[in-house]
Amino acid sequence: MRPVSGVCANLVVYTAFTDVGDTMFSLSIASGGHISTGRKSLGGTAGSVSKLNVEYFPFDVEEMNIDVDGTKKKVKQIVDEGKKVKLAMFGGSVLTQPQPLKELADIFHEIGAKVCYDAAHVAGLVAGRKFQDPLREGADVMSMSTHKTLFGPQGGCVLSFNRYAELIKKATFPSNVSNHHLHHLCGKAIAFAEFLEFGEEYASQVIKNSKALAQALYERGFQVLGEKRGFTQSHTVIVDVTKYGLGGDLEEKLEKANIILNRNLLAYDLKYDRHYQNPGGIRLGSQECTRLGMKESDMDYIAELIARVVIEGGDPERVRQDVIDFRKGFYKVHYCFESTRKAYEYIKLR
Ligand SMILES: Cc1ncc(COP(=O)(O)O)c(C=O)c1O
Repeated sequence: MRPVSGVCANLVVYTAFTDVGDTMFSLSIASGGHISTGRKSLGGTAGSVSKLNVEYFPFDVEEMNIDVDGTKKKVKQIVDEGKKVKLAMFGGSVLTQPQPLKELADIFHEIGAKVCYDAAHVAGLVAGRKFQDPLREGADVMSMSTHKTLFGPQGGCVLSFNRYAELIKKATFPSNVSNHHLHHLCGKAIAFAEFLEFGEEYASQVIKNSKALAQALYERGFQVLGEKRGFTQSHTVIVDVTKYGLGGDLEEKLEKANIILNRNLLAYDLKYDRHYQNPGGIRLGSQECTRLGMKESDMDYIAELIARVVIEGGDPERVRQDVIDFRKGFYKVHYCFESTRKAYEYIKLR
């Protein structure tokens, strides 16, 4: 529980299971990977801090998932080249579908590699039993943030089996953190207690909401990725917005309307010379709206607000007023022990 963030949790995993110069498989950033599992040339933590050689999983855009056959071939090729594959890092920052862990874990185990699942994004859905279950599907270890779909304080965590306990403990303290940082340790304990009580119900509504949001955007003309797989099985919705502009420009325009989402690189963006600062996609998440009590019909209204700005070219200032009015109905934090304070009221303390 000591890692102070998801990146720090990944560092613990690298420290425990790899050495300088080893090879690790992970998703490229364009395919939904995170910079902490990236190459040195990009400033990625795995490459530049842990000195790992990073190979990418082949990615199937239609399935929005790792290509199983392509991965099997690539693993063989990399091993034939004489590289020492010591870790396969599944998970990622854009996970709309459960990944093929069951199909691929053995391939990595057979060549002496460990399998990690970075659940930074989906930890709450895993805990709520509504997504895949990495440690029961072949992963040896799971790293995560505690503040995305898991509604804890900002922090990190590494989960594994007793057989790796000493290795992971040592890789945590003294290798990567020395203190307990008690403020987030206590916060994590409370968040987990709340999750035991409300987690399944919360995760279930998060996924219902993201599906409803994806469908509502699609019906209004947006190119939501992953259509073949029902758009999303997680909290994340990813949209190709190139019909209307670029992700960075639209992110800023939507922010003026008080709608917060992020620009996102799409798997095929680099082919079209699009850059991470102004890529072809936007990424939306239903986890925070769900915490505030929103349901499927509210997702439909949110899609309408987004369409007014992006498709109809409406004035963001006018949409902003409608967003403010809409949000007035959602000032209570749900799926947690009772509190007398309204959501975000602490901000007024400043
Ligand atoms: C897959 C993945 N791993 C790790 C991290 C890093 O988490 P943290 O911000 O807690 O360091 C992120 C952050 O978005 C992520 O998406």
